[in-house]
Amino acid sequence: MSTASSMNVPGYEQVVGCQDPASGLRAIIAIHDTTLGPALGGCRMYAYDGEEQALDDVLRLSRGMTYKSAMAELPFGGGKGVIIGSPREHKSEKLLKTFGRFVDSLDGRYITAEDMGTSAADMEIIRTQTRHVAGLPERSGDPSSATAWGVFQGIRAAVRHVFGWESLEGLTVAIQGVGNVGGHLADTLSLAGARLIVTDINEDAAHEVSSRTFARAVAPDDIFDTDADVFAPCAMGAVLNDETIPRFSVRIVAGPANNQLAEDRHADSLIDRDILYTPDYVINAGGIINIHYEKPAYDRQAAFAHVAGIYDTLVDLFRRAKAEGVSPLLMADCMAEERLAVARHDGLTREKIAAVG
Ligand SMILES: NC(=O)c1ccc[n+]([C@@H]2O[C@H](COP(=O)([O-])OP(=O)(O)OC[C@H]3O[C@@H](n4cnc5c(N)ncnc54)[C@H](O)[C@@H]3O)[C@@H](O)[C@H]2O)c1
Repeated sequence: MSTASSMNVPGYEQVVGCQDPASGLRAIIAIHDTTLGPALGGCRMYAYDGEEQALDDVLRLSRGMTYKSAMAELPFGGGKGVIIGSPREHKSEKLLKTFGRFVDSLDGRYITAEDMGTSAADMEIIRTQTRHVAGLPERSGDPSSATAWGVFQGIRAAVRHVFGWESLEGLTVAIQGVGNVGGHLADTLSLAGARLIVTDINEDAAHEVSSRTFARAVAPDDIFDTDADVFAPCAMGAVLNDETIPRFSVRIVAGPANNQLAEDRHADSLIDRDILYTPDYVINAGGIINIHYEKPAYDRQAAFAHVAGIYDTLVDLFRRAKAEGVSPLLMADCMAEERLAVARHDGLTREKIAAVG
């Protein structure tokens, strides 16, 4: 028998532990904040070392989604789902359908989507049980090109802040990971006249990108020591840490990877090295912005125009961070909180946002 147990977590609207022995589902859905709208956030499946680790992840990620939507001026709140288990060994149609029924039981307060360990095909299965699923292939589809477009705009904003000009012509960008987002980003940067250094643990991917963009390919560990102006992390998280930060000669870190800082204190380590850090949840919002434009019929032009606004958001963020003498990450958190506080104060509820279109 399926059981949903409520967990009381201060600062979070609703956290639900989902259990279903028949399908083997063990999952947690966290709704951090719905001030701006329904809580949107992907469903991650991962072989966590137990429930405590899964809970930490879902709480951190759902809060990040609240801030991401607030900074991107979207009518979404922040939420996330995590399924405990190895996607390769434990995923089944029955398990995904059961997760879909738990999502449905939240009546649209949580909207799920693809994330690490889940695929578009999995979302099609979940969708048989609930309509609260976003980013399906026949709607906005793969968000990577929108995410890369936002990262490109973010790099432009960072270059303007650090160097005082807008052109990327002749600047060198080191890209770690040339998968879905990194590959699109390499193409866009190359067209803008940037010189590229790329790496990937998948040598074929690195080779393919370097041959079409004239990038120099280096070994994965060498990417931190390259003589570049910008480092764009497009692979995994925690890549900015005590080991890597002292090795950088770049002036800017700007890329889509989630949770780039191993710990928040590394935002200050980057300041100490005079490296401008572009907060990940601001620069990588292109994908979620794209989802916003999927209904009633996907409007790619409007989506990409909104994504381009990441440039203005970051120009403003860097200026304010500098004026206050704080890290861009702290300033981004403050600006997101500020937007939520204004919305709460004005009673700018999701119904009112919907009413104004
Ligand atoms: N896809 C999106 O729209 C989107 C949106 C927001 C954030 N992100 C984040 O951006 C990052 C990239 O996403 P993606 O969709 O391009 O993923 P992806 O899996 O398509 O690409 C990641 C690439 O990084 C490579 N890689 C992994 N570890 C590496 C390492 N140690 N050194 C070098 N290369 C390594 C992989 O081989 C792969 O080619 C992820 O952190 C993701 O969470 C993606």
